[in-house]
Amino acid sequence: MPRKILVTSALPYANGSIHLGHLVEYIQTDIWVRFQKMQGHTCHYVCADDTHGTPIMLRAEKEGITPEALIARVWQEHKSDFDAFHIEFDNYGSTNSEDTREFAQSIYRKLKSEKLIEIRSIEQFYDPVKQMFLPDRFIKGECPKCHAKDQYGDNCEVCGATYAPTELINAYSAVSGAPPERRNSDHHFFRLSDPRCQEFLREWTRSDTLQPEASNKMQEWLGGSGENKLTDWDISRDAPYFGFEIPDAPGKYFYVWLDAPVGYMGSFQQLCKDAGLDFDEYWQQGSNTELYHFIGKDILYFHALFWPAMLQHAGYRTPTRLFAHGFLTVNGEKMSKSRGTFITAKSYEEHVKCTEYLRYYYAAKLNGSMEDLDLSLDDFVAKVNSDLIGKYINIASRSAGFISKRFGGMLARREQVGTQGMALIEAFIAAREAIAQSYEARDFSRALREIMRLADLANEYVNDKAPWVLAKQEGQEASLQEVCSVSLNLFRLLTLYLKPILPKLAEQVESFLNIGLLSWADAEYPLFAHVIKEYKHLMTRLDPKLIDAMVAANKESLQPAAESRQRHAAHQQHTAAKDAAQAEKDFEPFISIDDFTKVDLRVAKIVNAEHVEGADKLIRLTLDIGEEKTRNVFAGIKSAYAPEELIGRLTVMVANLAPRKMKFGLSEGMVLAASGDAPGLYILSPDHGAQPGMRIK
Ligand code: 2FM
Ligand code: ZN
Repeated sequence: MPRKILVTSALPYANGSIHLGHLVEYIQTDIWVRFQKMQGHTCHYVCADDTHGTPIMLRAEKEGITPEALIARVWQEHKSDFDAFHIEFDNYGSTNSEDTREFAQSIYRKLKSEKLIEIRSIEQFYDPVKQMFLPDRFIKGECPKCHAKDQYGDNCEVCGATYAPTELINAYSAVSGAPPERRNSDHHFFRLSDPRCQEFLREWTRSDTLQPEASNKMQEWLGGSGENKLTDWDISRDAPYFGFEIPDAPGKYFYVWLDAPVGYMGSFQQLCKDAGLDFDEYWQQGSNTELYHFIGKDILYFHALFWPAMLQHAGYRTPTRLFAHGFLTVNGEKMSKSRGTFITAKSYEEHVKCTEYLRYYYAAKLNGSMEDLDLSLDDFVAKVNSDLIGKYINIASRSAGFISKRFGGMLARREQVGTQGMALIEAFIAAREAIAQSYEARDFSRALREIMRLADLANEYVNDKAPWVLAKQEGQEASLQEVCSVSLNLFRLLTLYLKPILPKLAEQVESFLNIGLLSWADAEYPLFAHVIKEYKHLMTRLDPKLIDAMVAANKESLQPAAESRQRHAAHQQHTAAKDAAQAEKDFEPFISIDDFTKVDLRVAKIVNAEHVEGADKLIRLTLDIGEEKTRNVFAGIKSAYAPEELIGRLTVMVANLAPRKMKFGLSEGMVLAASGDAPGLYILSPDHGAQPGMRIK
């Protein structure tokens, strides 16, 4: 029975680039959707940029543009990355749309009429300079436990303590640096603690909506029966805020997480308008269509508690299932800018080009669980080359030429194929059910193990029959045509099974085999007495040097001037990273003490730090070295530090380096940082008690 399915991936924030971590989810979802479409089901895949909230508002302000201009630019960037990775949304929207606004407001009104909205006054930090309430992440100060400076409002990165922002010592606003005040303001709460929400969520969790790991988490959040562990959810924010105003509450805006999932509906509504679909068929209560959300495990809370409770009490259907996945690690560790493993989609495209390699590798690792997925770069190269090129492509490249050159492109007739060849083709056809089950269960790794087992059988057959030997023997024409035709039929079936993962490659194969778009049902009909086109090279080996260059290009290092920074990056791309590391090891020749004292090193306080528009690696530092005026210094440390974490720190600067005019302005000195063979970049800090301006000698 054809199914009607609506699928979403989490909406990426409109203030950052798509990176390889994001792509785990989009690739996973896209493969599943393509598989469903190949099955003949109606399947719609929608997504959108998540455009609201304080960080986006502040970033636009910093760039001197409107939030609308920022999100329009980022939308284009995101869309072009998704296209490059063949993520085929049926609609890619934006939460900043009239459709999403209408749904958010009507859901809110419905919840209000159900008496599930409550207004309460709460006390919050307020930045008197910037005249705005501050989210916790924009408040910093000294850790109340270990007294480390410049820690975030909710936890200390030095000792790991967690606390309320009110407990911070000498708290300051990361936006203006001013000490925040505490002010009261009315906030709107969604009453998740209401028994109706509790009951509904317990019931919802009991049905087959969650993976076992997610279900356990849910039990933890809900508590045992009789317990009421859920607390109300603060869904409003005060102006200034970039988002949707709450109906009948001037100056109050929906918190970004309220309208983000509503963006799923908004984006689907756009698709309905464009494609003439019936929105209600998919969203009304009791709908017999299916709704799936692919998400990362970090946002399970929003999707498993708030979202279904909102939908249920606003009179909509709830999700059929949530599919949560784990995080990406690279070479076994968290992605890291200093190691060069924080890789954007754009950077991958520029260096590696073929995005299907990554789709293949992720698929080989995805098994439908919430486990983390590791992109081991060496293994990536090895697997792509051995499986895709060595096993799969190889089957076609060794057979196709003979069919073109010797038989005018004509494949053998059915009667020409003997029992061994037919048995093999039949075995490949018979595998379709098991492979489909693995895809359906999102266990792509199991699907690929089966597909590669078949590829091994195909290669054994070709090796055994050795068409290149038959081609040289007289009177073996019919055998040659038979063997190559069997081999190309096996290749066609492998292509069909790989198509959800490798859609562009499959398109090339469809063209070369001179056939229409392959769907799952086509597996049953092998190709005989059919004319194919000439074989053109389908895919090349992945050169490990491309990966080295990509990692080197993403490894950011400290360079005083933009020119030398660029030279350095170019150098890193062209020589092995190892050579560069070796050069660092050689110590400089001796200098006299007089030489050393020529360098005027000072303790500097970083009074401000900010991104530099158009510079990938630079942070603009404003340094206090005890002079009347502060100094402006551009430092190539963006890979290792976020500007807000630098503000308030002491460091060391070269105060008498001749000022340099750079593209972005005048750099009046240089801050010092350490780096070595291993990835990582560390700015220096003086010991406690040092004051700005003190000389270092
Ligand atoms: O965590 C995030 O990146 C959010 N932008 C995801 C939103 S998903 C959905 F709810 F919109
Ligand atoms: Zn601490």
